[in-house]
Amino acid sequence: MAWRYVLEFGRKVYWVGVKDRNRRIFDALIPLPRGTSYNAYLIVGSQKNALIDTVNPGFEKVLEDKIGKVMNPRDLDYVIMNHAEPDHAGSIPYILKLSDKAKLVVSKRGARMAQVFYGIPIERMLIVSDQDVIDLGDRRLQFIEAPMLHWPETMFSYLPEDGILFPCDFFGSHIAEPIYDDEVEDLVYQAKRYFGEIMMPFRPMAKRAMEKLRSLNIRIIAPSHGPIIRKPQRILEAYEKWTSGETLRKATLAYVTMWGSTEAMVTTLTETLASEGLQVALHNLATADLGDLAGDLVDSRAIILAAPTVLGGTHPLAAYAATLIKALKPPSKFLALLGSYGWGAASGRQMEEILGTLNLEVLGFVEVNGPPTDADLKRIVDLGKKISERMKEADAK
Ligand code: FEO
Repeated sequence: MAWRYVLEFGRKVYWVGVKDRNRRIFDALIPLPRGTSYNAYLIVGSQKNALIDTVNPGFEKVLEDKIGKVMNPRDLDYVIMNHAEPDHAGSIPYILKLSDKAKLVVSKRGARMAQVFYGIPIERMLIVSDQDVIDLGDRRLQFIEAPMLHWPETMFSYLPEDGILFPCDFFGSHIAEPIYDDEVEDLVYQAKRYFGEIMMPFRPMAKRAMEKLRSLNIRIIAPSHGPIIRKPQRILEAYEKWTSGETLRKATLAYVTMWGSTEAMVTTLTETLASEGLQVALHNLATADLGDLAGDLVDSRAIILAAPTVLGGTHPLAAYAATLIKALKPPSKFLALLGSYGWGAASGRQMEEILGTLNLEVLGFVEVNGPPTDADLKRIVDLGKKISERMKEADAK
């Protein structure tokens, strides 16, 4: 057997997951500049044992080897499917073949998904509901339904005697290294971009989950991506803020420029907002990391999109960003649009149409023909002052 790293981070609670350092994109959407991990966990109780989640397809044998360093995989009693997405559940068929007696523990919706995605027969499953418990002998494993975090079937598992929460995607971050949260200086930044990409569209459900978790005595959070969190206060406090929809005096400004006209407008607006004491998160969409953009949207009170008209519409990068922003459902309140055009304006209108259902209050719309004149830039300064005023008013509410 190859050398495998298995970590006992709790009393007979083992990390048996995989670090996928080279993966660079998730769901063909989410950039992974620092890779990711698929964290599976093994709990060996005095009577029964349980494997919590599995790993991405392609790493089945690694998982088998790691379980084998602790116990014979043929003796697995329970395989817990917290979430059916293949990065955690994709190796379930392989693992269930190793152990004839192992039961797949699933939520009611998870049962259907395990059949559809992985062909698991219903007689191999144990269906659990919110707050149900299975007995491992010296400890219990409790289940907490957490729909839409990240799919409808998702549940968390909790080991009350040890205060260890296994929340699958929730509280995760897409970084492969290292193993513990307190070894990552920028953990909150990493967790925030992950929250923006994955949890923000389901913020009301995330808020409900936080309410459910408040009564637990959580000492360790063992998510399915990123480090094990042994100092949970920092991330719990951050999630309280992010799930509340609290916004800052901050604007996220995403822009595209072709010949510099839009960029000149963006520079003027950015400097006006900065002079008003506002925070501006600037993203040039030609090179931007969309994870950074998603992270900035988590607490931005205003969204500003700026793009030229090209080929009869907004620049395709701006159309893509607007579509993504709409899908991510940020808690922002205000919108402003900037654009430039050569012979016919279409960019601003199209961006506004794409974002339409977000119900943002449109504070301004400046579209100029050719490079901006001094008069155009004056309009942008006025727009900046208006954005500042409205953002500060919202603070007072
Ligand atoms: Fe990490 Fe929704 O899967």
